[in-house]
Amino acid sequence: MSEGTETTGLAEQVDRRRTFAIISHPDAGKTTLTEKLLLYGGALHVAGAVKSRKAARHAVSDWMAMEQEKGISITSSVLQFDHEGRRFNLLDTPGHADFSEDTYRTLAAVDSAVMLIDNAKGVEPRTLKLFEVCRLRKLPVMTFVNKMDRPGLDPIELMDQVSTTLDIRTVPLNWPIRDDDHQFCGLFDRVEQIAILFERRSAGTELAPEERLRLDDPRLRERIGDRRLEELEEELMLIDEAGDPWSIEDYLAGDVTPFFFGSAMTNFGVAQILEALGRIAPQPADRVAVQGARSAKDDRFSGFIFKIQANMNPRHRDRIAFMRVVSGRFERGMEVTVARSKKKLRLRKPHTFMASERSIVEDAVPGDIVGLYDPGELRLGDTLYRGSGVEYRGIPRFAPEHFARIQLKDPTRRKHLQNGLSQLSQEGTVQLFYRQGLGKADPYLGAVGLLQFEVLKVRLMNEYNTRAELESAPYTVARWVAGEPSGLAWLQARSDYLLVEDRYGHPVVLSPSPWPLDYALSQAPGLELLDVSPL
Ligand code: G4P
Repeated sequence: MSEGTETTGLAEQVDRRRTFAIISHPDAGKTTLTEKLLLYGGALHVAGAVKSRKAARHAVSDWMAMEQEKGISITSSVLQFDHEGRRFNLLDTPGHADFSEDTYRTLAAVDSAVMLIDNAKGVEPRTLKLFEVCRLRKLPVMTFVNKMDRPGLDPIELMDQVSTTLDIRTVPLNWPIRDDDHQFCGLFDRVEQIAILFERRSAGTELAPEERLRLDDPRLRERIGDRRLEELEEELMLIDEAGDPWSIEDYLAGDVTPFFFGSAMTNFGVAQILEALGRIAPQPADRVAVQGARSAKDDRFSGFIFKIQANMNPRHRDRIAFMRVVSGRFERGMEVTVARSKKKLRLRKPHTFMASERSIVEDAVPGDIVGLYDPGELRLGDTLYRGSGVEYRGIPRFAPEHFARIQLKDPTRRKHLQNGLSQLSQEGTVQLFYRQGLGKADPYLGAVGLLQFEVLKVRLMNEYNTRAELESAPYTVARWVAGEPSGLAWLQARSDYLLVEDRYGHPVVLSPSPWPLDYALSQAPGLELLDVSPL
C-alpha cells in the first residue's frame, strides 16, 4: 500500500496515521471488532477472514502445528487499512493460548489503545493487566463496551466500575438507545447531539444502515416509544449534569477514557468508534531518546524493535524483527545502523502487513510497522537509525506469572543449553532468573504466557539440538526489588522469600502468591516492588 512517499510530505503522512491496539480479556469480542473495523475500513469484503484464522490457532498444540507447517504466522500481526483520509495500523495483541510477553510489548509500539469490555462482564483480569501497561506508557485509551445487543450491566454502573477499578475518569461520548422491547437499536451521539438508529443486516456481514434523528424528531418517538424516550432523556440529563465534561487533552494525557457503546456482532457502533479513532486518537508520537526527544516529523530515519518472532519450521531458521518507524522515511534496501552494536545492516527484504497477506514494503513512515529479516543481529528494544545517532530507551520486561526449572535430557548438551537459553532470553522468548551463589547454572525460567515455554522447548530442539523438559516451579508472582537498600536487606534476612537476579543483576523476589509481598511492603522500610523491570 505505497502512497508514493517521495511526493507526499512526511508531515502530512504522519498526520494521517493512527497506530493502535485493542486490549481485552479473551471472548470480549476482539476478533469480531477487528474484523468489523476492517469491514468498515473497506479492507475486508467478507467478514469472517480474521475469525477463521483465529479458530485455527485456538489451542497451543494447534498453534504449534500450524507454525511448524506454515512457518511464521505473522500475517495477522499488523493490519493496515484506510478510512476517510486516515491510515490505520492495528496491531494484534495475542489473547487466548498465544498470550505472551509479546502481548505487552506490542503496547510499546502503538500510540493509543481501544479497551474492549463485555457489557455483561465489565472489567476482567486481563483487561486490568493490559490497561496497567497502557498506563505505564500514559497511552490514551478509548473504551468500547461490546455486546450491547445482549442484556448486561447498567451503563452507569459499568462506567463507575471502570473508573474505580482502573482509577481513570470516564466520559461517555455516545449513549445506548433501547427500543420498547429493550433491544439495543441505536446510540445518542453526545458530541453531535444526534440520535443514530441502526438497522441490522444479514448477520452483520454488511455495514449496518443508519438513520440520524434529532431528539425531538417524532420519528424517534415512533421508533422507540414514549417510555424509552423519556428514560433516554432522563439518562442524558443525568450524565450531562453529574458527569465529567469531555476534554480531548485529558484523553490524550491518559487521564480520561471516552466511552463508546456498541455491538461488534451486529456492527452497531463500529462506524462511531472508527470515526473517533480517526478524529481524536493521537497521530504518531515523538519519542524520548537518550539524546532528547525525536519528533516523528524529523526527516532523519529511526525506528525500534519491539518484537522478534522466530520461524518454528526447522528448515527455515529465519527470524522476523518487528520495527516501529519513529521518524523519517524508511525505504527498502536502506542501510541502517544498530545503535547498540553500531553494526550496519542493509534492509533488503522488509515486509509490510495488510489485511490478509504479507508483502514486500517499498517505503514506510512513522507509525508504520515493518517486518525485517533478522540475521541474528537484532535484539528487543534495539534502535535502528540512519545519519545522526539516536538511541531510544529499551522495552521493559514484564513480571512473569509462570515459572519453571529446566531438566536436561542429555547432560553432555549443557553448554548448548546455556548458549540457547542465553540467546533466546535476549530475544525475549522467556526470562531467566539466577539464584544467588549458583552463577548461571540452573536458572528459573519465567513467562507471562505458557506458550512461551512451548516455544522455548521447540526452539531449543530445532536450533540448539537440545531436548529439554520443563518442571513447573511453585511461584506465580515476580517483582523487581527497588527503593531503599534497607528494603532489600529486610528480604535477604528472611529465609521465606526467594531472591533471585535477572540477566542484568537486578534483584527480583519470587513468591507463590501476592500476600507475602504485601506483608513485606507493609513491614520493610523503604521497600518498593515493581512489576516491570527497570530499564
Ligand atoms: P475474542 O477475540 O475477544 O476472544 O472474542 P471473539 O471476537 O472471538 O468473540 C467471542 C464470542 O463473542 C464469539 O462467540 C462472538 O461471536 C461473540 N461476540 C462478539 N461480539 C459480540 C457482540 O457484539 N454481541 C454478541 N451477542 N456476541 C458477540 P462464540 O459463540 O464464541 O463464537 P461464534 O460461534 O459466534 O463464532
